[in-house]
Amino acid sequence: MTTSIIVEDHHALVGAAADWLARAIARCIASRHSCSLALSGGSTPRPAYERLAERSASPAIAWPSVTVYFGDERCVPPDDPRSNFRMADDALLGRVAIDPAHVHRMAGERRDHAAAAADYDHLLPDRIDIVILGVGPEGHTASLFPHSSALGEHERRVVAVTVPADPPERLTITPPVLAAARELLVLASGLAKAEVVAAALEGPLDPDALPVQLARRGTWILDRAAASRLRREARPA
Ligand code: 6PG
Repeated sequence: MTTSIIVEDHHALVGAAADWLARAIARCIASRHSCSLALSGGSTPRPAYERLAERSASPAIAWPSVTVYFGDERCVPPDDPRSNFRMADDALLGRVAIDPAHVHRMAGERRDHAAAAADYDHLLPDRIDIVILGVGPEGHTASLFPHSSALGEHERRVVAVTVPADPPERLTITPPVLAAARELLVLASGLAKAEVVAAALEGPLDPDALPVQLARRGTWILDRAAASRLRREARPA
């Protein structure tokens, strides 16, 4: 069942996402003594990562107990402005007391994308505790785009894909990783996401056309604009 948390605007979404993550990470560490966290790229999570970094003085997040993975990566070097690792490092990872050995980035710079994907598959745990996801206006999440062959993967947990976005060459987790995750957090902000959010949460289930439906069971933090096409009453924040 979906949990939707609807907040007033983008500013409130940033705070709600950071709060939710801080609580979920703390809960996970309290019960499992560690927390594996998969980060997403995109513009929506960046300010939430920054907000989370600002809370690093709080004892609530024991960063040394957190291990970070990525849900997808663009096939560019890690210092490229389009790199998801670079964004996460600038916004969060470089600013908190995380053990650098606990940060597992996807090697988007490798020439052999399939080998980079296979190596990343081997280092992923069986279940990631918390996976953060965004949603594209056409329904993609991570780098799982509509009708991609990656959506049919049952065995490989990370694959190389060519997607209709810039840059086109990507590495992405596949549906089994989302299915195994303990918690999924989807962030969507703005009117441009309103139609896809409504179709994803209230339309017929068809993840081949709307891959973000693979996260339908997760927690969706939306601002009013992104939630504006939902018919059902959602839980107010
Ligand atoms: C990426 C992402 C991707 C993103 C969505 C939403 O690498 O681009 O992981 O799935 O989350 O495209 O992006 P925005 O937050 O920028 O709308």
